[in-house]
Amino acid sequence: MKRKSYQGLTFRQYIEKSQIDERVEALGARIAADYEGKCPLFLCVLNGAAPFAVDLFRATDIDAEISFIRLKSYEGTSTTGKIKEVMGLIDDIKGRHVILVEDIIDTGRTMAKLIDDLRAKQPASIAIATLLFKPDALQVKVDPDYIGFEIPKKFIIGYGLDIDGLARNLKDIYILDEEA
Ligand code: IMP
Ligand code: MG
Repeated sequence: MKRKSYQGLTFRQYIEKSQIDERVEALGARIAADYEGKCPLFLCVLNGAAPFAVDLFRATDIDAEISFIRLKSYEGTSTTGKIKEVMGLIDDIKGRHVILVEDIIDTGRTMAKLIDDLRAKQPASIAIATLLFKPDALQVKVDPDYIGFEIPKKFIIGYGLDIDGLARNLKDIYILDEEA
């Protein structure tokens, strides 16, 4: 069992790259079938979703485009706490079929806010593709269309997911090992 340490915490290998690849290929095939002739726009939410978005895009064998956005966090005055603002959306998404690509949906707050902001720009449709989904952590209604893996409410790193900026370059996905 492979282990990695970051910030004094131990993580154990949880999903191998070969399993990720297999899942990404299957999702790409589904997206290709669902979006044939629609030229979807993959919108990758930086930084975490970058490896997944690029791999998923390559696994989708139809005409499609990819673009990248960032979310800027700021403290909201409301009780919802941290709200995030979309940065860097240079594409006109009006009338486009948008596939939002995220690394992980935890509470769902980020995705819910992002979808609200994007809806205002009148795309033809918005779908959500997320590599990881923690259904037990969900606090708002978010219903991903394409899910890589459903996982327990634990901290995950690797394949784009970070701990304080590190571990994004791990090929496999690791989970916090609370027994270690
Ligand atoms: P949400 O708004 O609670 O759904 O959180 C989404 C964001 O929190 C993700 O885009 C990640 O950046 C971060 N996040 C949530 N869970 C994890 C995790 O297990 N590992 C690393 N980042 C996480
Ligand atoms: Mg993220």
